[in-house]
Amino acid sequence: MLLTDSTTIITRQNIQILHIDNGFASAEISLFGGHILSFKPKHDDSERLWVSPNALFDGKKAIRGGIPICWPWFGDHQSNSKVAAHGYVRTQTWQILSSEETDTGTSITLKPQTSAGDGFEGDAQLTLAVHVGQQLKIQMRTTNLGDAPLTYNCALHSYFAISDIKQCELLGLSKQYSDKTRGYQMFDTPQPYQFSEETDRVHLEQPKALTITDGKNKTYVRSTGHDSIVVWNPWQKKSISMGDMADDGYLTMLCVETAITHGQEVKVDDTHILEQIIS
Ligand code: BG6
Repeated sequence: MLLTDSTTIITRQNIQILHIDNGFASAEISLFGGHILSFKPKHDDSERLWVSPNALFDGKKAIRGGIPICWPWFGDHQSNSKVAAHGYVRTQTWQILSSEETDTGTSITLKPQTSAGDGFEGDAQLTLAVHVGQQLKIQMRTTNLGDAPLTYNCALHSYFAISDIKQCELLGLSKQYSDKTRGYQMFDTPQPYQFSEETDRVHLEQPKALTITDGKNKTYVRSTGHDSIVVWNPWQKKSISMGDMADDGYLTMLCVETAITHGQEVKVDDTHILEQIIS
């Protein structure tokens, strides 16, 4: 695959990474997982994404941080306990389908080695379209190639970099959420939305715009094609228990995930698009 002038391939341990540097931003996309690792717009030179210093780049375990691609299910599989959480594409090696320079940045399209796997009955093609410009635009496109409707779940499981979780506020959510840390009970979203404990919440609303602020920096997240926003921070005890997180890793990250958690139907020959735009 011919890459454009803005893109080079670097290797980190067992993983190949596309390094993009154009007039608008720099970014990194790991071919393992189709996983975006970095996005730094040039207008403020501020890294939007967080990657754990202890993340593994062994080409086996999903990378802790960046934007893992969860597909075709989210979280644990509904009925099959033998398959991995968050689906099977975040641990595959992806291929580049196209790469193009435009007036607004660099566009790269990727696909996983295979969109088929244990735990998913549908006949689908997943592609990931990434545009690196002043904003980072990511589209997960799911096309139904089969002869019956299919249903899937997914997430752009974005880890955002913040200076201090204890100063962080998330703006733009206002309805109820299901709390995984409290037996999936429903609660009202706190106002202001701040963080002081393990947080693992599925917000059943589709806000178009969210802002993450830590008092110093602001990151804007716009989403379409989703039914939920998932907010996750493992906090201290869980960070300590996770081999690929530093003990205090939770202090400088917040996951705000554009997700489908209640099943998106895709009709035969149709394509459903889940989009997240980060600026
Ligand atoms: C979140 C889930 O989306 O991802 C959490 O809501 C989960 O329950 C977290 O712990 C991290 O998942 P994983 O598989 O990458 O460790």
